[in-house]
Amino acid sequence: MADYTIACLPGDGIGPEVVAEARKAVDAAAARFGFGLAWVDYDLGADRWLRTGEALPDTALKELRDADAILLGAVGRPDVPPGVLERGLLLRLRFELDLYVNLRPVKLYPAVASPLAGVGPGDVDLLVVRENTEGVYVGAGGVVHRGGPAEVATETSIETRVGVERCLRYAAARAKERSGRLTLVHKTNVLVHAGDLWRRAAGEVAAEVGVELDYAHADAACLYLVGDPGRFDVIVTDNLFGDILTDLGAAIAGGLGTAASANLNPGGSGGLMERSGSPPAKPPPSLFEPVHGSAPDIAGTGKANPVAAVLSAALLLQHLGERAAAAAVEAGAVAVLQGAAGYSTQALGDRIATAVAGGGHRPPRGGR
Ligand code: IPM
Ligand code: MN
Repeated sequence: MADYTIACLPGDGIGPEVVAEARKAVDAAAARFGFGLAWVDYDLGADRWLRTGEALPDTALKELRDADAILLGAVGRPDVPPGVLERGLLLRLRFELDLYVNLRPVKLYPAVASPLAGVGPGDVDLLVVRENTEGVYVGAGGVVHRGGPAEVATETSIETRVGVERCLRYAAARAKERSGRLTLVHKTNVLVHAGDLWRRAAGEVAAEVGVELDYAHADAACLYLVGDPGRFDVIVTDNLFGDILTDLGAAIAGGLGTAASANLNPGGSGGLMERSGSPPAKPPPSLFEPVHGSAPDIAGTGKANPVAAVLSAALLLQHLGERAAAAAVEAGAVAVLQGAAGYSTQALGDRIATAVAGGGHRPPRGGR
């Protein structure tokens, strides 16, 4: 009997290659720490869309809701118009499953070089908590007089008190476990309406939870991330700022090769789901994916670094409450970083799985 059902969406480009290696690491951890996994594969992505016109069929979405977690590789391919799979699959999953936190650790691992001068491991170790279901990502807006000289396009950013507050609560809780420092990043000097909502809500949540609240404008935060990353510990920010900041974060932490992410529904939807319909019996599954894209240019070459996908799988295990397994998978990924460039995707994955499997006592199989 499996303890967990994990839905696997390898997706496009290098997605299937890196997900295969992440699975090996998770399977090795399951064997070592004595829990059972059932993987359920979904062939969603470019091929499926080109064949059927479906990015995420309702039937698949319904099944995904029953999974305990979702592991996703990457979506998008040059032969599919931009936005089709991003919006139709990835963003739809974030919205439908109400994955309101996008957690992105920005961590410089040993043996990884930061482009910042004089910055080594330990100097960059922060968490970005990106709001994941609001802002400009809601898709509110439209176009009139398209193609003509009077063309108008609007893209409305939607922020709700409930949506902002539940994200802040998650970020404050994480800050409390770490340094007790939380930095709100926004653009309150220009986005006065949404900025004011974020600022007031952040002040109230920080006071209630008992964390120190700092603030930086989004542009200044970019400057500080490069010039003095140690000033941040936990950053909380809106959806679009978080999207941009976390690519910069990945850059200062040595690139996309080690950048992992978790799209979380931490449980308790802050009242949103309850208000919009019947409450779900259990929280929807959270979704874990590397920050990198499908990199079609290197797909099939064996050059893709599976570490970001493996670290995302470690976040998945952490979310399931399998802390020892999560730590072993993270350690296994970190262990191969030295000289990683000399190895293929599969060779790195095999070395990680071996590291995860090794050490410690292997509990007898088949008992559960
Ligand atoms: C990310 C990506 C997505 C986003 C795209 C693919 C829709 O850039 O996860 O950061 O903008 O959120
Ligand atoms: Mn992005």
